[in-house]
Amino acid sequence: MRLDKYLADVLKISRQNAKKLIKDKEVLVNDNIVSNINIIIDEKKDCVIVNNQMLQYQKYIYLMMNKPKGYLSATFDNSNPTIIELVPQQFNFKDLSIVGRLDKDTAGLILLSNDGAFIHNITSPKKHISKKYYVEYSGVLLSDAVSYVENGIEIDDYKTLPGKLELIGSNKAYITIYEGKFHQVKKMFEKLNTKVEYLKRVQIGSLQLGDLKIGEVKELTLDELEKIKE
Ligand code: URA
Repeated sequence: MRLDKYLADVLKISRQNAKKLIKDKEVLVNDNIVSNINIIIDEKKDCVIVNNQMLQYQKYIYLMMNKPKGYLSATFDNSNPTIIELVPQQFNFKDLSIVGRLDKDTAGLILLSNDGAFIHNITSPKKHISKKYYVEYSGVLLSDAVSYVENGIEIDDYKTLPGKLELIGSNKAYITIYEGKFHQVKKMFEKLNTKVEYLKRVQIGSLQLGDLKIGEVKELTLDELEKIKE
């Protein structure tokens, strides 16, 4: 990889500024000051030092966010705030994408990454990764709502995979589903004779939102990455 690209990626600076660092002789590769702006390095083997700091190249990034209500699951929008705006600069890798979608008025756990294969694996309908939501609803649930969800509910032109509904108090529930159709939870609750008033995703696979604060973003550990597939 070209050294200026490497510096731009790692330091999150423009290619122009990366070239300036090289021209200003502030970059060492394997202990030698670099003077050739076109130098190619092996990012896995070569040791690059800038301002006495050894740089580490990271190709992929995996993030979890506690999405606030009111933000779009999009990278850009003309009139609404997007969750990408909440990603701190040090995590804002090129090609960062949102893994699946939450509605604008839905809160909770959402993943971001620049690893296309990872994103495909998580979002592929064939993988049936579980997603658990905390729901507050208005109205009176059908008396057989739990078994209804267990058997799958017909929505639009499809039947949901068997899910799990846990009633946890007055008009509050957890629901676990295994696909991610458009407005799925809201539509399921409609079929159960109620209306979703508040929706928050609390778990994907066995990765829990935990105590991540609203709007906060954190990098996933390897353990946490594994949990998504469990
Ligand atoms: N189901 C919904 O209805 N909305 C979401 O944002 C996620 C699941």
